[in-house]
Amino acid sequence: CGIVGYVGGANAVPVLLEGLTRLEYRGYDSAGVGVLTANGPKVFRAVGRVRDLEQVLPKRLTGKAGIGHTRWATHGPATEANAHPHASADGRTLVVHNGIIDNSATLRARLAADGVTLTSDTDTEVLAHLVGASTAATLEERVIEALAQITGTYAIAVVDADFPGTIVVARQGSPLILGVGEREMFIGSDAAALVRHTSSVVHLDDGELATVTATGFRTFTADQADTGKQPEQIDLVADELEVGGHANFMHKEMLEQPASLRRMLSGRLDERFATARLDGLGLDPRELRTFKRVKAIGCGSAFYVGQLGATMIEDLARIPADAEAASEFRYRNPIIEPDTLYVAVSQSGETADTLFAVREIQRKGGRVVGLVNVVGSSIARECDGGIYLHAGPEISVCSTKALTHMAVGFALLALALGRVHDLSYAEGSRIVRGIKAIPDQVQQIVDGEARIADLAAGLSDAQSLFFIGRVRGYPVAREGAQKLKEISYQHAEAYQSSELKHGPLALISPEMPTVAIVPDDELLERNLGALHEVTARGGEVLAVTHEAVELAGLDGIQRIDVPRNEVELDPILLMIPLQLLAFHIATRLGRDIDRPRNLAKSVTVE
Ligand code: G6P
Repeated sequence: CGIVGYVGGANAVPVLLEGLTRLEYRGYDSAGVGVLTANGPKVFRAVGRVRDLEQVLPKRLTGKAGIGHTRWATHGPATEANAHPHASADGRTLVVHNGIIDNSATLRARLAADGVTLTSDTDTEVLAHLVGASTAATLEERVIEALAQITGTYAIAVVDADFPGTIVVARQGSPLILGVGEREMFIGSDAAALVRHTSSVVHLDDGELATVTATGFRTFTADQADTGKQPEQIDLVADELEVGGHANFMHKEMLEQPASLRRMLSGRLDERFATARLDGLGLDPRELRTFKRVKAIGCGSAFYVGQLGATMIEDLARIPADAEAASEFRYRNPIIEPDTLYVAVSQSGETADTLFAVREIQRKGGRVVGLVNVVGSSIARECDGGIYLHAGPEISVCSTKALTHMAVGFALLALALGRVHDLSYAEGSRIVRGIKAIPDQVQQIVDGEARIADLAAGLSDAQSLFFIGRVRGYPVAREGAQKLKEISYQHAEAYQSSELKHGPLALISPEMPTVAIVPDDELLERNLGALHEVTARGGEVLAVTHEAVELAGLDGIQRIDVPRNEVELDPILLMIPLQLLAFHIATRLGRDIDRPRNLAKSVTVE
């Protein structure tokens, strides 16, 4: 979900709507604004997009302070009543909230017993009633009193008719940023909401609150101790948040990968020592050498790229590495080892499951570094160092460029780890050359988009698809299947090609096409064996492969060739055609490319 807020000399309404549009990628099943007008607080909400909300707003709605929200439903369906802001019974206190209030059922029952009529199914509504019921002298104190009664996670913004010109915000587990302007202040759940107006921001920490007025802000804790936060400058360029000449952000983001990768790599490859320079890790070579194991944790696509990264680390550094879904990690009482390097992988840096896993690792004395895109995000700040991805803002819910950057980030890490272990200078140089070649090779792949679009036509009517690969190709297959599911809503399942014959081969038929990852590596013969098993049963195959691979004797096979890199780095490039394939299938099916149903870009709740 996304939160915005404004207080200052201008009319809050257009600022809130613009901010909500920027945040829409964070959630888009309903939206709302609450404004302190000359005639008291007014709330407008609508199911659907921000543009649907605009339809219900009175033309002349004005106010000097207001809050807004775009929702991704957790408690209660996407209805107008469940959309935020939520109001106290007298309508004078308005609250927007991201996160989950764990004890909301108890609080709802208590409020109902006290005669309060609850008008929504949400956990948030209780907060509005609790703040509204407080008789404390200041809005800060009312909010602190209310928060003392809840458990859970939140980022909230509160306005109250008793305190016009003031917004009180609080953060516990969900991101919140203040933007400092000239006699005006902005609030956003990420910098995208503010960047049009200011580059001077304050990141709130967990447990922190702030009182925000047109002339400034004060940050403090629940016991009213000042935390004295000062603004920092962010270098987000507003133009990067525009779709430009593209039909949608996903297309823009796929095509800008060569340029963004060049930016990411600049200054990070050290040819003289045949290694990677990763100063942000905060680990010198001797410290880096002490790690006996690497574990990547992330969610969704970030998890799959973690798996791909683990393979690169095992290949190049010869130390055991694996990946795990961060959403599961904390719940299985993981054994945290002091000589394991944990790598938290996240585009947004705000995924709650990943953030909580980071904290669990740290609580148990583990060392965790981030592979994160959003600068200053919670995971980036809480990790003990990291590698920023520098992919630039990614707006499309389906991640593309950030994933490629994550994979390249792992290549850099694998190289650095390799060079403090047994990877020779010559081998290190080979990998440096390979990494350097990636941006141009990605360019070659995206230049072949038209052919991939043609191939997409043949797959768009399939009900269900297999994605197969093995060892290095398996995470690629998993990510390819995920991308297709997310954006085209076709069923797709990733399998190790080696496992096909142990069960799923029963499903192969002309109606069940297979996308196969077939790199020109030491497993080629085995991969081709699996393809024979499929084609012999009438299954159609699209092979994502290398030019040198011979596919003679396989009936009904189509191919996409990607440029060869080093065998350890090839998986990075094999992922790219699958992005384009999913995109073109979904486009043919008329799907909403940037905002697939039911999903949110950044899931800041568990
Ligand atoms: C959400 C998105 C996925 C994404 C995952 C992790 O579920 O829909 O596309 O891979 O979160 O996001 P992160 O920001 O941590 O990379």
